[in-house]
Amino acid sequence: MSKFQETKVLSGTTEGISEASRLLKSGALVAFPTETVYGLGADARDGNAVAKIFESKRRPSFNPLIVHVHSLERAQELIDLPNQLLELAKRFWPGPLTLISPLKEGSGISELVSSGLETLAVRIPSHALALKLLKEFDGPLSAPSANPSGCVSPTSAAHVLDGLDGLIAAVIDGGDCQLGLESTIIGYKDGLTTLLRSGGLSLEEASKVTPIVTSNDNLETITAPGQLRSHYATGARIRLNVDRPQRNEAYLAFGNLDPSQVGLDLSAKQDLSEAAANLFAHLRTLDKKTEEFGLVAISVAPIPMTGLGLAINDRLTRAAAPKDV
Ligand code: TXA
Ligand code: MG
Repeated sequence: MSKFQETKVLSGTTEGISEASRLLKSGALVAFPTETVYGLGADARDGNAVAKIFESKRRPSFNPLIVHVHSLERAQELIDLPNQLLELAKRFWPGPLTLISPLKEGSGISELVSSGLETLAVRIPSHALALKLLKEFDGPLSAPSANPSGCVSPTSAAHVLDGLDGLIAAVIDGGDCQLGLESTIIGYKDGLTTLLRSGGLSLEEASKVTPIVTSNDNLETITAPGQLRSHYATGARIRLNVDRPQRNEAYLAFGNLDPSQVGLDLSAKQDLSEAAANLFAHLRTLDKKTEEFGLVAISVAPIPMTGLGLAINDRLTRAAAPKDV
């Protein structure tokens, strides 16, 4: 797709939000901040607008999108939430949780959004600007992460422009995302509440509300790009669980960065939330540095498999997967 328009950078003021809402109503794409990552928003009822998402992201069209709304009532106009998911919604919305449930008839959601599935992914983000925009727009916004398909998710307005400048109407600048990791996705299948993607809400927290199963089978049967192995690919090769990086590698450390090494620390104090918030931005920077310094790979420190460490390791494993899968 050729570049065709100037991408406006809007502020989170009342004027900025009304301009964003006006653009969305006219069928244009507007990227906006959420507490997880920046989303690329389009009116979920407008098939042409939704198609622009796939076009600008160059995203395989069989991949369904998450719909964002501002209230539980609005969510329930779109999907039938079984009790277990309703409990999760009441406890964790607004927040980094996406629920997948059967789509209601007459929801008005464009088929492109759910890619023909009978289920729909819905979430209420907690970011103040996202909620302000959703209230002003007063409709469902489909919004995948605002990056070209297969690239690292954006956690700042500058990241959005890195990948999509000239391809979308506007981005609302809300600074850095607080979590820096996508939402946790939970569905309900065969009587089981099932984790489909680990993310900003930890499994431990969610499991306090209702028992949740994790099943790799489900991941494979659902056509979700977050589940394709190479989805989070960087340009550089990635080596995982490395305690001592080679001199010709950039190092993504976890509290163990040697100042003489080309690298960045996910968290000097080995805090997993801080590491999650830094993950995509650091990968992006090291990808550039690897190229700039002619290094052979990015090696990554071992990250503990607890709490948000699961989601971090999941993203890293995908980033490290061979590029041709
Ligand atoms: O934090 C987030 O979730 C961000 C912000 C913008 O909300 N959004 C995000 O969207 O990560 P995206 O499109 O990059 O990832 C959504 C994931 C994809 O893997 C998609 O295939 C899956 O959700 N998904 C959406 N609808 C689905 C459905 N009905 N069944 C199974 N998977 C679905
Ligand atoms: Mg994404």
